[in-house]
Amino acid sequence: MRLKEHLRKIPGLLKLLRLGRIVLDPTHRSEWQLKRNKPHNLFQPDGHTFFDRYPWIFSAVKELLLEVATPRLLSFGCSTGEEVFTLRRYFPQAEILGIDINPHSIALCQKKLIQARDSHIQFKLASSPGEEVKDYYDAVFCMAVLRHGELGFSHSENCAHLIRFEDFERTIRGFYRVLKPGGLLIIRHSNFRIADTALAEEFDVVLAIIPNRLVEKTPLYGSNNQLLGNDVYNDTVFRKRNVA
Ligand SMILES: C[S@@+](CC[C@H](N)C(=O)[O-])C[C@H]1O[C@@H](n2cnc3c(N)ncnc32)[C@H](O)[C@@H]1O
Repeated sequence: MRLKEHLRKIPGLLKLLRLGRIVLDPTHRSEWQLKRNKPHNLFQPDGHTFFDRYPWIFSAVKELLLEVATPRLLSFGCSTGEEVFTLRRYFPQAEILGIDINPHSIALCQKKLIQARDSHIQFKLASSPGEEVKDYYDAVFCMAVLRHGELGFSHSENCAHLIRFEDFERTIRGFYRVLKPGGLLIIRHSNFRIADTALAEEFDVVLAIIPNRLVEKTPLYGSNNQLLGNDVYNDTVFRKRNVA
């Protein structure tokens, strides 16, 4: 029998352990607070991340940006900064901004930045790209953000109690605004598809990647927030069309 099943037999113990984790673990507490307070435009509240999480995507984007001497990169939903410091390895000359909705994560990023002494990296607490300059970025990375982990377990028929298509579409519109014409948008593990937004025609798909195991935990939802069938969505790197 698994440990959790043993623990369930002791009345109140699991609740007590959960409460203990909230009190003792500041990262867990910050995610719990996000889930409870549901700030505007919150998607995935869980900050799980690690260094070099998407090596072939980073390598592919590096190839696509070879011509750009000093790329401007946005890591949207950067969590505790591993993605930003990974991007620095792939793009030594880049100017990089990491944005996250979680104040605790951004505070940790700032501490790491002091250690790294990198004046071309910045971190910012924000929930949308709304404050960023128009037509500025060569690439926007939005990895494992436009989703909600609970949907992977519940496969609810409707996702609107956790995340909503209209927030997704508005966020994509925000990315479109801050990308340079020809700039790249990289999206991974999203519960929604750009193909279902009004901006579908504004992007070309330049890279589709065979899904990995997280795909089973990433059910797809349509523009009405209803669960789609068994569709798999491989589109990963999009290019903002050059408008004449
Ligand atoms: C699973 S982590 C992804 C971290 C990293 N991008 C990666 O793929 O490893 C999801 C992050 O998205 C952040 N997030 C969720 N909604 C957001 C929003 N509206 N604006 C900025 N960050 C958001 C969460 O705080 C969390 O740190």
